[in-house]
Amino acid sequence: MVLAENKAVITLFGAAGDLAQRKLYPSLFKLYQKHYLGEHFALLGTSRRQISDEDFQEMVRQSISSIKETADGQAESFVKHFFFQSHDVTKPEHYVVLGKRIAKLEEQFDTEHNRLFYMSMAPQFFGTIAINLKKQNLLSDNGFNRLVIEKPFGRDFDSAKKLNDELTQTFDENQIFRIDHYLGKEMIQNIEALRFGNTIIESLWNNRYIDNIQVTLSEKLGVEERAGYYDQSGALRDMVQNHVMQIVAQLAMEQPVAFTDSDVRVEKIKALRSLRLYTPSEAAANFVRGQYDAGDNSTAYRKEDGVDPHSATETFVAAKLLFDNYRWSGVPFYIRTGKKMADKFTRIDVVFRKPLIDIFANPRMKSDQSLKSNVLTIYVEPKSGFALRVNAKSAGQGFTTTPVDLSFLQSSAAKEEAPEPYERLFHDALEGNHTNFASWAEIAYAWKFVDVIRKLWDIEDPQFPNYVPGSMGPAASDELLARDGRQWVYRLNR
Ligand SMILES: NC(=O)c1ccc[n+]([C@@H]2O[C@H](COP(=O)([O-])OP(=O)(O)OC[C@H]3O[C@@H](n4cnc5c(N)ncnc54)[C@H](OP(=O)(O)O)[C@@H]3O)[C@@H](O)[C@H]2O)c1
Repeated sequence: MVLAENKAVITLFGAAGDLAQRKLYPSLFKLYQKHYLGEHFALLGTSRRQISDEDFQEMVRQSISSIKETADGQAESFVKHFFFQSHDVTKPEHYVVLGKRIAKLEEQFDTEHNRLFYMSMAPQFFGTIAINLKKQNLLSDNGFNRLVIEKPFGRDFDSAKKLNDELTQTFDENQIFRIDHYLGKEMIQNIEALRFGNTIIESLWNNRYIDNIQVTLSEKLGVEERAGYYDQSGALRDMVQNHVMQIVAQLAMEQPVAFTDSDVRVEKIKALRSLRLYTPSEAAANFVRGQYDAGDNSTAYRKEDGVDPHSATETFVAAKLLFDNYRWSGVPFYIRTGKKMADKFTRIDVVFRKPLIDIFANPRMKSDQSLKSNVLTIYVEPKSGFALRVNAKSAGQGFTTTPVDLSFLQSSAAKEEAPEPYERLFHDALEGNHTNFASWAEIAYAWKFVDVIRKLWDIEDPQFPNYVPGSMGPAASDELLARDGRQWVYRLNR
């Protein structure tokens, strides 16, 4: 049976790269297994090296080898849709050959002239590819033309705008799909379901009932083999400008008119517009940076291979963000992300206000307990689900209260079934659905916000290293909340 099959020739730039082999081919195979891709698709892989179609098919075969077939011969019939063209993206004449190859595959696989171009290579080439696709006439006249583009989208507002100007010489905004793989995660997509599908949540989702919101993206590993890239980027650019800002926008946005990509975008853009742009002194007060030191069995960031021994690059960021709008006025959004932290996880903690009067704290009851805040925790990864912490009576004689969790965690079977982020995002791009991709306006607001911090940090020497591996970052991150009389919901017992 063929379900809503997507028909297209996918031209992949960077086809021999790490991302393509680890994520993209396995995701396409899963779409093929689910019949979202059928007989009417082909992938034309490109990079400079000279390899035959057969060798490329072998590369794809290897990259999907750990996925169990759901029908005999499935992997073999899948790899027969893959072809390779040696191509240097900087050479205009190579695009002419590429165009002929695409046209031939369109005929062979009857793809209704739909063309999807996927840029999975170093970002300095993104603009060149887009411009050449138009100049050398690689766009389809009869089917769709879409561009999927990997991160990073610029390294500040000016470079991001330059890139966007280059892309939009060839593609309209509604043809561009900017990947932020956090938007492909099950529980990030669940934020909208939780908020807009539940009266008991959305009716409390404002500054009358919410005290603060905390977003943590914690990584256990250090920079590993990405040191060269990371040392030029840092946590602010690598994590905050994109993933953190996208999550925060979904938490802060108003209810869209309908759950369509254009309506969701309107609300996310509005939310980011109301994010307070800090002055340099506000930025200094509300942002904390960190860099990891050596640990028992691990190297300090500055001693990692490929890292400048005097590097001032941050491997940790914590911050307090404020939205100046009616819903969120006075509610801080605390965010933090870092490498070499205690554990690998992503979670969101929504901390509600305590009851105005704590009737259980009556001195005659000889109780020194006090009510705890209700907390809605959204577990994004590795576990998926949510928990609502409520106060309940402790069992037994007397009357004390204790916090208990009402929780839902996805079973491992359901998690196995759930599509990987790249599978969802590939599918959405083939369907032309922008909901889980970042628009230019969102990216522009996020860069404008982050640029203020970056400029400040670039002129001030940090006191690095300042946190030990296996911790939750520098002490200043805890102090950021302590100053407001608050603390992180997830913290280590020191
Ligand atoms: N890897 C990840 O986990 C990951 C995660 C998130 C985002 N990303 C993003 O995904 C993109 C791809 O990353 P990657 O790790 O897959 O990169 P990669 O392993 O370096 O692969 C890039 C490919 O580009 C090809 N290439 C280089 N120069 C070329 C040229 N002038 N013309 C044509 N091809 C050229 C290279 O093949 P030849 O030598 O044969 O030309 C190489 O195979 C980047 O934007 C990255 O930021 C990657």
